[in-house]
Amino acid sequence: MTLLSWNDSLSLGVDAMDAEHKELVAAMNRIHELAGKKADKATLDVAIQRLAKLTAKHFADEEKHMAAIGYPDAKRHGYIHQDMLQKIAAHHEAFQKGDGTVPKAFFDFLVHWLCAHIKGIDRKYADHGAPTRV
Ligand SMILES: [Fe+2]
Ligand SMILES: [Fe+2]
Repeated sequence: MTLLSWNDSLSLGVDAMDAEHKELVAAMNRIHELAGKKADKATLDVAIQRLAKLTAKHFADEEKHMAAIGYPDAKRHGYIHQDMLQKIAAHHEAFQKGDGTVPKAFFDFLVHWLCAHIKGIDRKYADHGAPTRV
């Protein structure tokens, strides 16, 4: 079963960021799919690690994008990213210490991320404007 489906309400109209968000959604769905199939702990661990890496890269790229467009609230957005990276790391660590099942709280966190972060917080920089082309 798919955890999250991409739909137009998630699209920001910033192509590079939309492409990375889609990658994140696919990585989240992969974890959910593996958990549904009762994949072994090592396989799930690799999938969670992949999501964590993609997330770190995405946040760095997004922060560069916000700087490029002169988005005034970039600093606060960056702090929210740092907090989310810590939460992902905490969920990952809890998984590694656990019995190999992915807790529902982890999936709830991922769903909340898409609903609240992309649709709410990321939307604000998208509305601010496109980067100046050189
Ligand atoms: Fe984002
Ligand atoms: Fe963001």
